[in-house]
Amino acid sequence: MVRETRLAPAQLIAPFFVCHGKDVRNPVGSMPGVAQLSVDGQLDREVGAAVELGIRSVILFGLPAQKDAVGSENFDPDGIIARAIHRIRTRYPDVCIITDLCCCEYTSHGHCGILRGEYVDNDATLEILGRAARVHAEAGADIVAPSGMMDGMVSAIRSALDAGGHLDTAILSYAVKYASGYYGPFRDAAGSTPAFGDRRQYQMDPANAREALLEAQLDEAEGADMLMVKPALAYLDIISKVRDLSPLPLVCYNVSGEYAMVKAAAQNGWIDERRVVTETLLGMRRAGADMIITYHATDMARWLREEGNA
Ligand code: PBG
Ligand code: ZN
Repeated sequence: MVRETRLAPAQLIAPFFVCHGKDVRNPVGSMPGVAQLSVDGQLDREVGAAVELGIRSVILFGLPAQKDAVGSENFDPDGIIARAIHRIRTRYPDVCIITDLCCCEYTSHGHCGILRGEYVDNDATLEILGRAARVHAEAGADIVAPSGMMDGMVSAIRSALDAGGHLDTAILSYAVKYASGYYGPFRDAAGSTPAFGDRRQYQMDPANAREALLEAQLDEAEGADMLMVKPALAYLDIISKVRDLSPLPLVCYNVSGEYAMVKAAAQNGWIDERRVVTETLLGMRRAGADMIITYHATDMARWLREEGNA
């Protein structure tokens, strides 16, 4: 009765990596329990399991057949991401479909934007993001989630969506995203390790907290519908500060490296997985996150049901 913070399946967002091919389930070595899934029964089964447990939202990451300098498959209406959106929209009409809107899964160089020399050209990238957002919306995405930390991305995407008639497609901005070592396993899963350099040109310095507030304010002013802080575990103070600053719904991303650490320790019998995951996700909610993107989503929803909380 006096418990201050609660966890519910509806607050969890389940990530999925979608790939080409038939009946493919490629386990990601550094993320036990996570696999790249083909857009057929493989994807249906895992989305279905999440939905059955009360999860209402998914976030999708596409693995293209071909990578090129501008990441063309991201804005190809017949590309992997468009096909996955369409499949889920058809099979599970009530699921809230969020798409990761970045270039790095689709570019040959693995950076989050179009290159000019060795640097990402911020403004040239905005146009590409607008095109991709329209394709995702057209395929049936409810929310696009730009994760590239380009300046002005939210307003550019909002204009592109509106011009395409997608007035009701929302934007979840990865507003506060740090240049983090915790993304390592994800880059295996998505094949998006930068071919050279790192992401410090556009992602934030882990030492900075005030800058997080500036990033959040800018995205709110540009028309973001929801904000995100990422990673989560080492940035609970940032979640709390952004919560105090902005009335927008706040999402945090319990990222791949956070997941991998828990899984590895649990597999060694060094921690109690269920207890640690529950405590971690509750901590993120307590810090101020309304919703959590987590690879533990389906497990957590199952544990909540077992406890009679869902
Ligand atoms: C793409 C993107 C990344 C993640 C989500 N979207 C990787 C990165 O920025 O390098 C990381 C997610 C995770 O680690 O689970 N920009
Ligand atoms: Zn990216």
